[in-house]
Parts: sequence; structure tokens; C-alpha cells
Amino acid sequence: MYRLPPDPRQRVLLAEQVGIVRDGLAASRTATATLARALLAIHDGELYRVAHGTFEGLCRAEFDLTRSRAYQLLAFARVVENVGADNSGRVAVPKRESHARLLAALPPGRQVEAARLVQETLDAEGRSQARTADFAQAVRTVGGKAENPNLQDTQTPPSLCRWICERLADAGVRPKRILDPCAGNGNLTRPFAQADVVAYEIRQGRDFFRAEKLAVDLVICNPPWKDALRWLQQVVQVAGNRTPTVFICPVLFFIGYKDAAVRRYLESPAAPVFNHLTPLPSDTFVKVYCPGAILWLNLPGVRNVALVPGDRLVRSNDDAPAGCPRPVRPAHASSGTTIDRRPEPSHPFAG
Ligand SMILES: C[S@@+](CC[C@H](N)C(=O)[O-])C[C@H]1O[C@@H](n2cnc3c(N)ncnc32)[C@H](O)[C@@H]1O
Repeated sequence: MYRLPPDPRQRVLLAEQVGIVRDGLAASRTATATLARALLAIHDGELYRVAHGTFEGLCRAEFDLTRSRAYQLLAFARVVENVGADNSGRVAVPKRESHARLLAALPPGRQVEAARLVQETLDAEGRSQARTADFAQAVRTVGGKAENPNLQDTQTPPSLCRWICERLADAGVRPKRILDPCAGNGNLTRPFAQADVVAYEIRQGRDFFRAEKLAVDLVICNPPWKDALRWLQQVVQVAGNRTPTVFICPVLFFIGYKDAAVRRYLESPAAPVFNHLTPLPSDTFVKVYCPGAILWLNLPGVRNVALVPGDRLVRSNDDAPAGCPRPVRPAHASSGTTIDRRPEPSHPFAG
């Protein structure tokens, strides 16, 4: 692609912003919002093209910043810009990176809502400086509003689970040991009749956030959607970033906006390789009207996943015919449950 040569005024702008970042780095080990915003101006204005070709190259050469640190600072700046765009004077714009990181867990509109709550707390208590606890509380309050326990627990329709299993089988993926971090009724792994399943489910007292590292050859996960990024990061923590993974989350976390949380994470070097995305219509899940997506990670061989045929999207939590093999929960296992696939009439997690 042909690109216009850089405008000479960009050199001046670049020099200014580089100066601000250098001064900031020299002054303190803690990044300031001013520093982060200067970096964002370099990134979004493509000022790096003037001297270094790439943003990462500039960060390394001028500031000795790694790629991941540079992107963390960009994330800080984006929260500051987003919240700061509300010039009502009634929002607490985060000054510290740790505060911005808390807000970054929310979509942009809700970040502003949370920052407003922080300001209300400051006003009510006659304080001028926000504390970490103020932001954490506001994020919990605003994030919690979106939470509907029933919707967070909806199951993946069995017809879709079978379609996923078939696409994997077509690609030669026949796992022997699968991790399902939040198994619900076990829908996602039921079609893999030959596999052992390590299942976690909070309702059974098995919290995936207490899981230890595991060797599995497939992860398949449809987590509570409000926390999709946190779940994906925990999957990587437990199963590593090279394990083939099928991850279902709201499509907004991926393409809703340029800075969407899961999308941003997948750009980072620590993330699994993102190979394909399957969009899911808004009426795929029972009671949920929100478009989802299947992310196929570390699964380059998978084909024909651009469209799920309508007849594989039967909106149901459970359509397993009577007598269909169901996982059995053995009485042991503290860090997870290895599921035996022998036919069993009762519900997999029925006490
Ligand atoms: C959206 S549902 C999906 C269930 C199942 N994976 C499926 O697709 O049919 C999310 C499940 O995560 C479970 N869950 C929530 N927090 C959990 C945790 N910390 N550890 C394990 N399971 C959890 C919920 O109880 C719920 O069953």
C-alpha cells in the first residue's frame, strides 16, 4: 500500500510527545496520565512513522519500553481519554494506572458511570484524592448492575455443542482430555464421548479460579459473559497459551470497539493464537438477547466455521435424548473432576 510521506509538522509533534514521555519516565517509576497520553498521541497519530516505522520500534529505541508495557500504558491513556471526555466536572478522572486498570474492566460508557460514582464519594466525604478502594467499589457497583445471575448461567444449546465437536473432528482434533472451566450441565463436552473431562462448576463447589495448572489437549469454555476477559486469562493461566481452545463470549468483547477487552488481550504476546471467529446470532442462547462469538484459539486447522447453519442453533438449554451418555461426577477430586463417560441416566451434577 502506498502511504504519503510524513508531514514535517509531525516531526515537531513527535519531538514534543517524546520529550513528555522521557521526562515522565525520568521523573518517576510510576506512570502518570500525562505520560500515557503522550504515548497515545504518538500511537494514534502514527507519529512513530516519522522516525521509527513502527510504534513498538519507537518505544524500544526511545524509551526502552517493551511492547507489552507500551500497550499497558496505552490502555491507561484510553481510559483517561474516555473518562476525561466527560467535561461535566462530575467525574473522577483516574490519575493512577492502577485506578485506570480497574475501570478498564468495564465498557467505555460504564467507565464514565463508575468515575462519576467515585466523584460522588469524594464530594460526599470532602476528599480530593481518590483511593484504589473508591474505584474498586464503583466498578463493583456499576459492573454488578449488568449482572443477572440467571443470564450469566445460561447453557450452550446442545445442537451448537455438537456442531463445535464436529468442526473439531473435521480438523482432526480428537481430544483425550478436555478442560471445561465452568461446566454448567456439561453440555459443551457431552458430544466428546471418548474424552476424559476435567470439569469445574462453582455450583458444585469447584471454583475455577482456584484451579492449579493442568495438562489437557483441549479447553472448551462458555464462561459467565460479564467477566469474559478474566476467564480467558485464567484459562491461559491454567492450561497454558498453546492449548487448543474454544472460547465463547459476547461479540462486543471482541469487535464492539477497537479497544474491546478480549481483542486487546489477544493482541498481547502472552495470549493464545487467534485463528477464527464464528459470530452467533443474538437469539442463540436461552433468555439472552446478545450476539455472541466463538473464538477458535490455537486451532489453525479448523475450517467452515464462518456460519453456523440455522438448524444447529436450536435455542434450548438441554435437549439430550433420554439414555444419551452423560458424564458422571465421581466422589473424589479437589482441584477438578475427571469425568468418566460411561452411560449414566442421572444428571451429571445432580448432587
Ligand atoms: C454461561 S454458563 C455456561 C455453562 C456451560 N459452560 C455451557 O456452556 O453450557 C456459566 C457457568 O459458569 C459457572 N461458574 C460461575 N463462576 C464459576 C467459577 N468461579 N468456577 C466455576 N464455574 C463457575 C456458573 O455456575 C455457570 O454454570
